[in-house]
Order: sequence, then C-alpha cells, then structure tokens
Amino acid sequence: MPGPFSGLSVKIIATIVIVILAVEVVIYLPSAASFRQSWLNDRLRVGIVAARVLDAVPDAMNLPRMLTDRLLTSAGALAIVYRREGQSQLIELENADMPRVAVTVDMRVRDPATLILGALDTLLFGGARTLRIVGEEIGQQERIIEVLMPEAPLRADLLVYSRNLFVLSLILAVITSAVLYVFVSRILIGPIRRLTGNMVRYRQAPENATLIVTPSARRDEIGVMEQELAAMEADIFSMLRQRRHLADLGLAVAKINHDLRNTLTSAQLLSDQVANVDDPNVQRLAPRLVHSIDRAIGFAQSVLDYGRQSAAPPRPVRVELRQLIEDAAFEAGLVGHPGIGFVNAVPAAMTLVVDPDQFARIFINLFRNAREALEANGADRDAPGVEAGIAEGPDGLVLWVEDNGPGLPPRARENLFVAFEGSARAGGTGLGLAIARELAEAHGGRLGHVDTPRGTRFELLLPVSLRGN
Ligand SMILES: Nc1ncnc2c1ncn2[C@@H]1O[C@H](COP(=O)(O)OP(=O)(O)O)[C@@H](O)[C@H]1O
Ligand SMILES: [Mg+2]
Repeated sequence: MPGPFSGLSVKIIATIVIVILAVEVVIYLPSAASFRQSWLNDRLRVGIVAARVLDAVPDAMNLPRMLTDRLLTSAGALAIVYRREGQSQLIELENADMPRVAVTVDMRVRDPATLILGALDTLLFGGARTLRIVGEEIGQQERIIEVLMPEAPLRADLLVYSRNLFVLSLILAVITSAVLYVFVSRILIGPIRRLTGNMVRYRQAPENATLIVTPSARRDEIGVMEQELAAMEADIFSMLRQRRHLADLGLAVAKINHDLRNTLTSAQLLSDQVANVDDPNVQRLAPRLVHSIDRAIGFAQSVLDYGRQSAAPPRPVRVELRQLIEDAAFEAGLVGHPGIGFVNAVPAAMTLVVDPDQFARIFINLFRNAREALEANGADRDAPGVEAGIAEGPDGLVLWVEDNGPGLPPRARENLFVAFEGSARAGGTGLGLAIARELAEAHGGRLGHVDTPRGTRFELLLPVSLRGN
C-alpha cells in the first residue's frame, strides 16, 4: 500500500494548489497593471482640475502661493505643467528640489504589454524615482497636462495591493484544495483504497471466498471497476478450485495408468511365450492377443506422455528446418516406409528459432497420423504419399503437411484438437493433435486443419519473427 504522502490524494492536492497559484500569477500581472493605471489616472485628474483652475484665473502666475501649494499637495505632485495652443504654464511646489531626470508615463498609451511592464518596472525600480505623468484632458487633445511626482507612494500602494492579492489567492487556494481534497478522497481515493486493499488481501489467499469484494451500488467507472473485480475474483476462485480437483484427478489417473502399463508389460511377455505354444488354436488367437496388449500399452504410454509434457516453456535455438522435418518423418516411420512415399519440400537453407524437441513433436504427430491413415485406408488414387513444406503467407510463415489419404473422418472433425475426444480410430487417444496444437501455441503459432478436395492438409502458421535467417 502506498504511504500517506505517496498516494493519489497528495498528488492531486499538490497539483491543484500549484495550478491555482499559477493561475493567480497570470491574473496578478494585468490586475497590478490596472491598479497602477487607475492610481496614476487619479493623480492626473487632480492635475487637470488644477489646470482648469489656472485656466479660469486671469493672472495665474500671481496666484497666492498658499493656494498653488495646496493644489499641488492634494495631487501629491511636485509640479504641474499645462500646455495649450503653443503656450505652457508651470506651477510648482515651493522649496521642492526639482529632479533633473524623470520617468515618463504617457497615459495615452494603453496597450496591455506596456501597462504590465510599467507595473513591473514600478515594483522593481520605483523606489526613488520621479514620475512625469503625461495625459490630455478628455476630448481636448490639444491640452496636455504633465504631473511631476515621486514614484515611491505609487510603489508603496502597489506593494500593499500585491500583498493583499497574494494573501487572498493563498486563502482561495487553500479553501479550494481543502474542498477538493474532501471531495476527491470521498469519491475517488476512498473507494480506490478499498479496491487496492482488497486486491492485495485477495491475492494472498485467493481460495478464500469471503475475501471477494462486495460491489457498492455506484454506477460510475469505480462502480464498474468494483463489479468487474468481484466477477474476476469469483472466476479465479472457481477456476482455482476446479484446477485443484483436476490436478488431483490427473494424479490419480497417472498412478493407475502407471500400474496398468507395468501389468500390461508383464502380460506382453506372457503373450509372447503363449505365441510359441504349438497348438493351432493358440496359434490362431495369439497374434490378436499380442496386438491388443500392444495397443493397450501404447495407449497407456501416450496418456503418460501427455501428463508428463508439462507446461515447460519452449527453449528456442536456431535449427535447420529441413533436417528437423526429416528426423520427425523418420521417427514417425515415414522415411523408408515400404508403401508410402515421403517428400520433404523444405529448402535446405531454411532455419527457424524454435525449441527443437517440442517442434519436432508437432511434426511427429502429424506424420504419424498421416501414416496411420494411409496404412489403414490407402491413397485415393495415386501411390500413397506424404509431403511437408514451408511457404511465406501474408500472416507469417506457413508450414504444411499434406497426404493423399482418405481425409479426416467426420467423427474426428468434430473434436479435432480436443484431448481424449478427437480420436476416430481404434486404439487412438485423441492426444496427438491436442498436444501438437498446444506446442504450436507455445511458440506463438497456430495449428489448423485446412479443407482440401482430397487427402488431408494441416497448416502451422508461425510468426515471421521465428525465422532464423
Ligand atoms: N492425416 C490424417 N488423415 C486422416 N485422418 C486423420 C489424419 N490426421 C488425423 N486424423 C484423424 O484425427 C483423429 C485425431 O488424431 P490425433 O489427435 O492424433 O489422435 P489419435 O491419433 O490418437 O487418434 C485421428 O483419430 C484420425 O481419425
Ligand atoms: Mg495421432
């Protein structure tokens, strides 16, 4: 289980707080700019009022000092310049030491980038500078007002504004994430924790049916997850139980079969001796007895083999396919067979990367079936023959085995590839093709019967990646 600080909820909350703060930063810049803009506008407005007053007075230059000083202080200004129709007027604070340089802020420029840069400029460098605010009277373009004032008060106000905004954002982020935390943990994290906890416990004891999760009544994705998990755990539970029973049965069969084979082997020795008795009746019956016992031993042996060929995964190495096919045909009794011809059509250079033993067993089974069918029924018209080869198809490599025998009997067709069911011949187990298919699948391949007008054809489709050259 994830610890308290590595779980989903912490990740979600951290993401939310970071996103909210990032959004606040983005919002902060324009709002600081507009705060500064309106602050400056207020000062300019006072300057305009002062200029109007000057305009109304006939002899502005000789206004009482007290009056002009009050006008200027109310605007927080050091000086006000008023230009119109080519002339300009200046009133300035008495005893103010006029700065030589001032930073000009033109209120007529209003594009957002300039405003934002101006606000940042004030915040970073506005400690001791003097501002020259330039603007015009509304609707009177030719009347220009300039207000000269220190930047420090603006900066102080802007700082207070920023701090308030920051505190507000922080409160907002905390409240939002707290609300979301409660929501997320109730709706998501809690149920997911329950599910993961259940999975962990169930995996440790999958045979305990009481650990199967009980789905809630939710109908969203989590509800589906709960239902699917419950169904999956129930499936696993019954599959495990079934598998255990099957394994027990299999063990019992193997034991019985083993004893049976030993007993049959003794009977075989006896029947061989019986065959030597010089009695016409015995001479007539003995071969049948020997044959039956041989068949029973063969059956017992192949069942034992099926049990033994446990699910060992293939150990692939590079093999020469032509030789492998040749050996398999030999082992299946096809090479050197007096009545059946065998053609190996695999090119000599062909190599595959497969498990040699398992792969050979696939073909031994196919060849043996073909031989048995041909021996029992003969060929349709030509001389009996079996042929194997390889071709490159659109879906991969196709290895094929074909004979011109009688074709699959209908009974075999129905349960082909099903262990103990697929046999349609006396003494057959129906294991050959089942084993062959299993081995093919373990190699990522697919073994199938292909319908042909005459004879029998099996095809093994292999991924091209198994090609060795
Ligand atoms: N080449 C073939 N020609 C005709 N019938 C075949 C051929 N291959 C398989 N069969 C039929 O398929 C059945 C199943 O084969 P298999 O799984 O090897 O089991 P078994 O050989 O033990 O009967 C066989 O009994 C046989 O009737
Ligand atoms: Mg067979």
